[in-house]
Amino acid sequence: MRLGKKMGVVAAGAALTLSLAACGGSGAGGGGDESAPAGDGGEDVKIGVAMPTETSERWIQDGNAVKESLEEAGYQVDLQYAGDDIPTQTQQIDSMITGGADVLILAAIDGTALTSQLEAAAAANIPVISYDRLIRDSENVDFYVTFDNYQVGVAQATALLTGLGLTDAEGQPTGEKGPFNIELFAGSLDDNNAHFFWDGAMDTLKPFMDEGSIVVPSGQTDIEQAATLRWLQETAQKRMEDLLTSTYSGGTELHGVLSPYDGISRGIITALQGVGMGPTIEEGLPVVTGQDAEIASVKLIQDGVQQSTIFKDTRKLAEQAVVAAEAYVNGEEPEANDTEQYDNGVKVVPSYLLEVDTVYSDNITPLLVDSGYWTQEEIDAGVAG
Ligand code: BGC
Repeated sequence: MRLGKKMGVVAAGAALTLSLAACGGSGAGGGGDESAPAGDGGEDVKIGVAMPTETSERWIQDGNAVKESLEEAGYQVDLQYAGDDIPTQTQQIDSMITGGADVLILAAIDGTALTSQLEAAAAANIPVISYDRLIRDSENVDFYVTFDNYQVGVAQATALLTGLGLTDAEGQPTGEKGPFNIELFAGSLDDNNAHFFWDGAMDTLKPFMDEGSIVVPSGQTDIEQAATLRWLQETAQKRMEDLLTSTYSGGTELHGVLSPYDGISRGIITALQGVGMGPTIEEGLPVVTGQDAEIASVKLIQDGVQQSTIFKDTRKLAEQAVVAAEAYVNGEEPEANDTEQYDNGVKVVPSYLLEVDTVYSDNITPLLVDSGYWTQEEIDAGVAG
């Protein structure tokens, strides 16, 4: 039977700590210490972890890292992927709640679709940690762990400007005036992050658009026009193909594409190469940005095909989620480093934001190989494993 939110979770955590000490730190055994809180010796702490999809590699990395760290801390973990299907995800969370989860770590598919699950969690006194994507329209989100999503957009736009020669690597204008033709892609509108990425990118690009050194020949400059439902590669490829037909078939040159995610970038690149551009940037392929440092895209960057990606170290995010979960287990509030940016429509959710790095062909080794995120062999093969 589930323990009460604060009291019970604290008691289970205390029992866990004691049992860890009793077993020399190797797993959550049965405890049995006489000073353990009465009646809780055998209670295990259960953490439900909901991830959106396994089709994008980053969520597999996230899921594995969260599960491993939670298990190392001695918790039971119920990790579920929902195949990007909203009803599947709501069902999974429902059963985590009825199955007695003590804490929930949730990466939503649609940030507005979990209201009733969150009500049930609150009624059962289960703290909810929103993972990477903010859950919206609910007061029952306790904490948010993520990256600085606005800065992700700034970094993507800066990479694009740098690739075009309008700014140097520090984002300082070079004096070059172009004009350069670009097209804009956004993520899935039901993902709060997509809006932060877009805002960061558009605020960065705007001065260059205003002075005319950047032009969007299709005229599609609203996030609704640029959006990619569920962040799907094929959807992005199709939109790029349509743009090439509608806007570029008469000889207008395309110099760059703002892409918010590596899967979308690969769809765009396939479309561009499909009409004979490139195949590399040196050979005329437009500059295409990205996000997530997915292995297939890192290989493309190494090969001079994709220009950049944003590295979000999922191991660090997983670690913060575990730190937050442990705080709840111990009856404490997790420590936030941002209490202003993330208003979910009902309240500002206390957040822990991590920094990101931009990967270009010349810093793959220090950022991704030396940190152990990918091996050089994996990058050369373009496949994880
Ligand atoms: C994440 C990105 C990811 C995208 C698509 C966003 O919510 O923050 O890292 O590229 O979803 O999976």
